[in-house]
Amino acid sequence: RSLPPEVFHWIPIVGSAITYGNDPLGFFFKCREKYGDVFTFILFGRKVTVALGPKGNNFVLGGKSTFFSAEDAYTHLTTPVFGKDVVYDVPNDVFMEQKKFVKVGLSVDNFRAYVNMIEEEVELFMQTDSAFLTYQMNNINEWGCFDAADIMSQITILTASRTLQGKEIRDNLDKSFSDLYAALDGGFTPINFLFPNLPLASYRRRDEAHKKMSDFYVDIIRKRKGTFDDAQDMIGALRSQRYRNGRQLEDHEIAHIMIALLMAGQHTSSATGSWALLHLADNVQAQESLYKEQVEYFGNSDGTFREMSYEEMRRLPILDSVIRETLRIHPPIHSIFRYVRTDVAVSPTLSAPAEDNTYVVPKGHYVLASPAVSQVDPKIWSNPHIWEPTRWSDPEGVAAEAFKTYMDENGEKVDFGFGAVSKGTDSPYQPFGAGRHRCIGEQFAYLQLGTILATIVRKVEVRLEPGCSFPEHNYHTMITMPKKPRNIRYRRRAL
Ligand code: HEM
Repeated sequence: RSLPPEVFHWIPIVGSAITYGNDPLGFFFKCREKYGDVFTFILFGRKVTVALGPKGNNFVLGGKSTFFSAEDAYTHLTTPVFGKDVVYDVPNDVFMEQKKFVKVGLSVDNFRAYVNMIEEEVELFMQTDSAFLTYQMNNINEWGCFDAADIMSQITILTASRTLQGKEIRDNLDKSFSDLYAALDGGFTPINFLFPNLPLASYRRRDEAHKKMSDFYVDIIRKRKGTFDDAQDMIGALRSQRYRNGRQLEDHEIAHIMIALLMAGQHTSSATGSWALLHLADNVQAQESLYKEQVEYFGNSDGTFREMSYEEMRRLPILDSVIRETLRIHPPIHSIFRYVRTDVAVSPTLSAPAEDNTYVVPKGHYVLASPAVSQVDPKIWSNPHIWEPTRWSDPEGVAAEAFKTYMDENGEKVDFGFGAVSKGTDSPYQPFGAGRHRCIGEQFAYLQLGTILATIVRKVEVRLEPGCSFPEHNYHTMITMPKKPRNIRYRRRAL
């Protein structure tokens, strides 16, 4: 058995870090042409073995946690930010229990209450934030302008704190909490992933911010004790849970899980919302279909809208396909890493038979899955780089056509299409990952994004700035963001 082919590079240690860092997808597609679906590249001294395609996703994300460890890959990045005794700072079976506790807080009952809270927050934001001045002035013929990512990051944190994070966090958002959040966020970057500890001010600010934020949550939890506060939020849910051995969560564990959820949900949702809004601004036809769907389901005869319910939200095919398609082309996370704990054999084509396993990925390597690649693979999708929400809702549309090709080549059937996205580890579409580390925030993200987009589209029309092309991906941030300029023009819809 041999090692997988190593990507050619000029500079030892640094390896392919620059090419990968600037454009990971371009790098992966090029390497695939040269080396096939399995290859190793050097990333600042680390050996990273990439496994591409649906079978590569399956190899990495479906791999046993005794072979491939998420905590060994991520703890140096996450523990200084989230804190001790949660997520990747504990053995995997303990974290799996913690994920179950979080699921209790993500209940349908809670979601029912959240839709109108989110709607209210978005409306309030539009009525008060200076980015929406034209909207506030009630002049339907004047266009205003905002930066898509700026407003989305604010709306995301406002709506997440009003719902999941709870009243105390929402009330403090305009005050100390947002500075703490910004300082903590400054310690959650690709640099922190590559270099666990550097004597830099941002690392110090991260550590100070973590301590203050942890104390802030612990204080909230203590104050809630002795009151009969059964708030429909995550702190309430976590306070009611017990580990299998009967132990309740300690205050600092609840605090640190809350920080982890804040970080996990913020950039992922706000980036997706920004991309979706940019595409709607670029594709007036899709925007009008989305608006008409709102009118059809919720429009009153006087041109106003009634409130949405969670159940209704879940049955809006156009809104759903707008988010689904946005996550296909712009999944917030382009690389999912695991640390290899024991030698693992793999075939160059990632096919099953053991005798074909000619490569060995040795202990000490990292493995990397990139569902972002299979989500725009021309072998699987027609017009993969075109944002086309109807591919999800039209049974005769491009997704169906492309998928026939995919099935023909591989000779296997995969559950696919609107409302039937495979949760299996070998699906080509996995914006929320797969396997034991799969995202538990998916339903919340759909609810949050759906409500935000619907509320905005009900009130304003959006367009890209004339003369500006659609923004490219910025891969230098932890979560793939639109590069600037990413301005959107808007005007109030006529009632
Ligand atoms: C895991 C994507 C929103 C909480 C993941 C993973 C992905 C992902 C790809 C797998 C990571 C891995 O395997 O290493 C997304 C996207 C989101 C989103 C695209 C929004 C559009 C959220 C939200 C929350 C959340 C809102 C919390 C409320 C988590 C948690 C995990 C996770 C707890 C588990 C990590 C693990 O088991 O190792 N997410 N996420 N995510 N996400 Fe999300």
